[in-house]
Parts: sequence; C-alpha cells; structure tokens
Amino acid sequence: MMEENIQNIAKKIVEDGKGILAADESTNTIKKRFDSIKVESNEKTRCNYRDTLFSTPNISKYISGVILFEETFFQKNLDNQLLKKKLENIECYPGIKIDQGLEEMSENTIETYTKGIETLNERLQPFVENGAKFTKWRAVINIGKDIPTDSCIKKNSLLLADYALVSQKNKLVPIVEPEVIMEGSHNLDTCYEITKRTLDEVFESLSKKNVDLKGMLLKPNMIVPGKESKEDLDAKKISEKTLDCLIKTVPKEVPGIVFLSGGLDSINATMLLNEINKINKSPWKLSFSYGRALQEDALKMWAGKNENKDTVQNTFLHRAKMNSLACHGKWNASLENE
Ligand code: G3H
Repeated sequence: MMEENIQNIAKKIVEDGKGILAADESTNTIKKRFDSIKVESNEKTRCNYRDTLFSTPNISKYISGVILFEETFFQKNLDNQLLKKKLENIECYPGIKIDQGLEEMSENTIETYTKGIETLNERLQPFVENGAKFTKWRAVINIGKDIPTDSCIKKNSLLLADYALVSQKNKLVPIVEPEVIMEGSHNLDTCYEITKRTLDEVFESLSKKNVDLKGMLLKPNMIVPGKESKEDLDAKKISEKTLDCLIKTVPKEVPGIVFLSGGLDSINATMLLNEINKINKSPWKLSFSYGRALQEDALKMWAGKNENKDTVQNTFLHRAKMNSLACHGKWNASLENE
C-alpha cells in the first residue's frame, strides 16, 4: 500500500473527479442556514443534518474529503457512532476548519484578518491525535472604495503561509483559502485584478516560508463580477479569466485547486466549474470545495425532518455527481433532470 503522506493525500483528494464537501459552517453560520428553513439550530439538529449528509449511499464516489467544524469532528450520532468515523469508513478524509474567524484590521474599515495563529499548533493536537488529514484556513479580501489595501493582502497572505507551514509540520494538508468575496458592485476585471494581486502575494509568502507546494491545495474564488454589479455571468469570459489568473499566479507543483462557491447558486457553480475544465490545459486538477452550492438544495429538502432522509440524500448525491462530471468537463444542463 502507498504510504500516506501530505503529498499523496493532497493528490488523492482531487483524483478521479472527486472534490470536497465544506460542511464546516461555524455555529453562527449554520444558524443562519437553519433560520432560512425555519429549523432551530442546536447540537442535536446540527448533528442530525450532517449525519444525514455523511450517510448518503455512494457519496464517496464523488466526495473525497469533508471539512468539519470542531463540534462535528467529535460528535456522535443517535447510534453513538462518531460522524468522523463514518467518513473514514467510506474512505472519505476528515478535515478540520482551524482558523478562528475574522477580526477587523482597524476601527474604521471593513477589512479583516483571520484570527487564531498564536494558538494554532496547540489547537491542532486533538485533531492530529484523532485522525484529521487536512485543515482549512480562510482569509477574506473585500473589494470596495480604496480596498483592498496592500497591508490587508500582505497580512492575510503571511498568516496563510504561517498556517500552512504549521499544518504541514503536523502532517496535515493545508487548504489555503484566500477568498476575494463576491459582495460588491465591482466588475469582473476588478475581481481579476484583485484576485491576481492576492494570489501573487499568497504564493510569495508560501515560498518564503518554504511551504511544500506539493502537499497543499489552493481554495480560491472564481473570477466573477460582484453580486451587485450589472454584469451578467458570462461563462466563457469567467472560465477564460479564471484560468488565465491561475496560470499567472499558481506554481505547477500545487496538485489541485478546489474552488469555493462563494454565493454562486448550485447550478451556476457546477456550470462554471464545467466550463473551466472544458478549456483546462493546466497542470493542476481543478475541482470543488463547495459549501452552499453542494448543500442548498439538500438543506431545503431536509427542512429539519428525519423522514425526508432519502430525498435529502438523493438530492445531495445528485449535486455531488454533477460537480464530479464538471471536474471532467462532462456536465450539461440536461443531466440535471436525471
Ligand atoms: O470557507 C468557505 C467554505 O468552506 C466554502 O463555502 O462554497 O459556500 O463559499 P462556500
């Protein structure tokens, strides 16, 4: 059997059209998601919902890893089984979101940096001891008047590099997520320019810290216009600009790029991933690490009721399969009616 090290785990995560389910919503974020379906968020409902997703028959054909929130990592279901163990049983890698959320850079700005670096090594230990295989750290870059500033991009890039190094020292694959967020009225060209500036800085920091590029994954945004912009989602332009930006910034040693969905609806997230893969001639596997775009349909079907389990699982499996096809550039809209 091949020895498991960070380089082959990173490779395996993006192999064969597989991708990641981001089920690492913090307690505040999952509450917002549950509010939208009028379900109370408590330990039990969160456990039931996530247990339903993770128990989906055949899901590991399309999903190779799941990012978990701390609570979920150590949570047991009604049958007293660890949710993390269920994932391991189907050969799905458990990962952990290890950042501690966002802090404002200073008083009069919406710019943020990501908290948690000082205690990172210590906080990682229980996850290392209990079989985590990868970690995630999310940095947020906002676009607006006079922002992002160089200092915001620099600080977040340094933190991402520090985080990646500490993860690798603990034999965990870091998922480096610099998210240029979609909120705003900026156009696609601005998203391109800011994402390029950010990725340039991130890879400069990673290489200065000697992070092993073969033992990490990048989780970026696609190049899209802001949500409040008047520009339409032009699939051709988005796929070309996204690939162009990545080719100019991401070293070829990185085994895979797993996009975030960032507020794109589920069909658009699949359609754009498919368009990108159709024209991809790059060295990396281009896959997904979606949260909302993998879960939103299933979440609605669940509506807090365990009797909806089969429909939830069929819906989730379908979405995962569609994204897996998109990793091969083999998705088309008619498959949505399968
Ligand atoms: O950090 C963000 C999540 O891991 C991905 O979520 O696909 O809903 O943007 P999203």
